[in-house]
Amino acid sequence: MSSPTRKTLIAANWKMYKTPAESVSFTRAFIPLAGRHPNVEVVLCPSPTSLAAVVEAAANNPIRVAAQDMHWLDQGAYTGETSPLMLKAIGVTHVLIGHSERRQYFNETDTTVNLKLKSALAHGLVPIVCVGEHLAQREANQTADVLKLQVSVALEGIDPAAAHPLVIAYEPVWAIGTGRTATPEIADEAHKIIRAQIAQSLSSQLAASTRILYGGSVKPDNAASLCCLDDIDGALVGGASLDPTSFAQIVANSAA
Ligand code: PGA
Repeated sequence: MSSPTRKTLIAANWKMYKTPAESVSFTRAFIPLAGRHPNVEVVLCPSPTSLAAVVEAAANNPIRVAAQDMHWLDQGAYTGETSPLMLKAIGVTHVLIGHSERRQYFNETDTTVNLKLKSALAHGLVPIVCVGEHLAQREANQTADVLKLQVSVALEGIDPAAAHPLVIAYEPVWAIGTGRTATPEIADEAHKIIRAQIAQSLSSQLAASTRILYGGSVKPDNAASLCCLDDIDGALVGGASLDPTSFAQIVANSAA
């Protein structure tokens, strides 16, 4: 179980699934199924067109809503982009930054991750920065180097005094959508590497207070074994978060 100073966070990454109507019916079905777990922060990450509808459907509930990406600037001639001001204006509180699918298909780099992280912190959005190695990198024994580089560039120039809301999600690319979950030992080892890098880049105090989530084929039946480890503070869930019963079970199993 994560440290008492780090509240467990379970986030549902719906990727490019669910219309606004489907997102609202998920939220309405999920709320009673999930019950109340005061020791768990639950975050839903719908697609841009569903954000406002989910914020409204989750009003009067501690559930929070995250965007899956954002631009780092407040406004400008950037067709197709969404700014932090726009997200805040509709009640979004969290934002995913640097998901591996953004890195793989949309040219997200460690440098743009850094710009987005600075912007999210400046705007009071809780950033969930995703990092993780590819299979070939793991097989070549490069996991530690890849994670240290991704985290150190993401944190470059971040003021430790303003970094407190920071959340990191460790998502090994080989485990995303593949049904191949990292063993708790593999995840724990990666989380320790990430925490050590936060200590080096920011401070040991922030390393101790920053939540590090695991993501990659999290399901109801493996959530408890992952979330019970000291250095794992929650989960970022893709496929298994699309169904309200399955996601409610993950929340309950992580809280147990
Ligand atoms: P998955 O996705 O749970 O379907 O593996 C996780 C993610 O991409 O955030």
